[in-house]
Amino acid sequence: MTPPRANSNAARDIANALHPYTDLRTHLDVGPVVIARGKGVRVWDDAGKEYIDALAGLWCASLGFSNERLVEAAARQMRTLPFYHSFAAKSHEPMIDLAEMLIARAPVPMSRAFFANSGSEANDTAIKMVWYFNNALGRTKKKKLIGRIKGYHGITLAAASLTGLAANHRSFDVPLPGFIHTMAPHHYHQGLPGESEEAFATRCADELEKLILAEDPETVAAMWAEPVLGAGGVIVPPATYYEKIQAVLKKYDILLVADEVICGFWRTGNYWGTQTMGMQPDILTCAKALSSSYLPISAVMVNERVFQALADESHKIGTFGTGFTYSGHPVPAAVAVETLKIYDETDIGSHVRQVGPYMQQALRQRFADHELVGEVRGIGLVAAVELVADKATRTNFDPKQKIGARAAKLMEAHGVSGRALINESLGFCPPLIGT
Ligand SMILES: Cc1ncc(COP(=O)(O)O)c(C=O)c1O
Repeated sequence: MTPPRANSNAARDIANALHPYTDLRTHLDVGPVVIARGKGVRVWDDAGKEYIDALAGLWCASLGFSNERLVEAAARQMRTLPFYHSFAAKSHEPMIDLAEMLIARAPVPMSRAFFANSGSEANDTAIKMVWYFNNALGRTKKKKLIGRIKGYHGITLAAASLTGLAANHRSFDVPLPGFIHTMAPHHYHQGLPGESEEAFATRCADELEKLILAEDPETVAAMWAEPVLGAGGVIVPPATYYEKIQAVLKKYDILLVADEVICGFWRTGNYWGTQTMGMQPDILTCAKALSSSYLPISAVMVNERVFQALADESHKIGTFGTGFTYSGHPVPAAVAVETLKIYDETDIGSHVRQVGPYMQQALRQRFADHELVGEVRGIGLVAAVELVADKATRTNFDPKQKIGARAAKLMEAHGVSGRALINESLGFCPPLIGT
């Protein structure tokens, strides 16, 4: 490895920047890939090398990297009102428009939308809402939250506690108490020999019920679920999984929170992943494609039952004492409004329904039989190709070999920017505008 030139972007990065999700020691030797510009589904690094972005950045730049309407929407809003807040009943039109559009597009009847800046913040806020809700109902013991192994809900303290990935827990002293995890709905790895997907789904629901009973149902408040698990390896739960899971949650009056941060806005072939998977959430969080990620914004939608409890409790206390300086910030809100208009006007859903199955089929055709490929999976425009050391026994490589990261580097060398997820699964989640 030749060291980067003094004063190059790479050298200045190594000397000054602390990167998320990076081996900080190795980074000192290897350095960054510095992305300089983007157009359509492509980005270019600062040496001029071109990449197709296989992961739309971080599963998020749904309209690609050069949508002028979004740039214009931001500039227009900045000239009109570059900032205002939404505390203490202040409001502004971009936030009002966006709330109205989200409620109108919700997959199940939703009552109100709250805004934050990231997926993690949306989930953290939803966690606080669940606790507040149960306090309002006088169920002061009903506070435990269930996530799933391999689930990903972000990295703030509470969201990281819901997340079920070792790298997000190790040495960070999370999960916090009161966060518990049920099994991943991944038939390929978790299914027993000869077990059908249907029987596996039943077992997942049985395991969930056992966990709830062991914890005491009176202490369990909510379960969080990405419709299709993203960062945990693009896991599409089996057909009857959510039907069975939801029956268990209903039985014990446990709320379902759908984390639509990746799945929302057509990614799985429907407006919401919730619709693709047949979920009826009480609370829904979204971010990323909400603004095509041109500016940070996320949302939490709550149903009428939850809203009424929040309203009662805040009235008793005198205020709903949570919110961010940038909750509903007018500039990202204006960009999100424009993004949702573009989805509607360009009928992006029909486009995804055309190119999604093609991507799924092409990945399977080209890679499923490869001796190093264990499973190709996904739905709509999100997929993963999992590399295995032994196809017959479905054994993954020793993580120390960093096979996934090495494969991602090879992809990069061939002009495809992407990332390896856990279990050496290469993720595919391109901008929705790809052809
Ligand atoms: C499903 C899901 N939830 C939450 C998050 C966290 O979002 P953020 O990184 O914006 O905090 C992510 C990020 O990838 C995600 O995929």
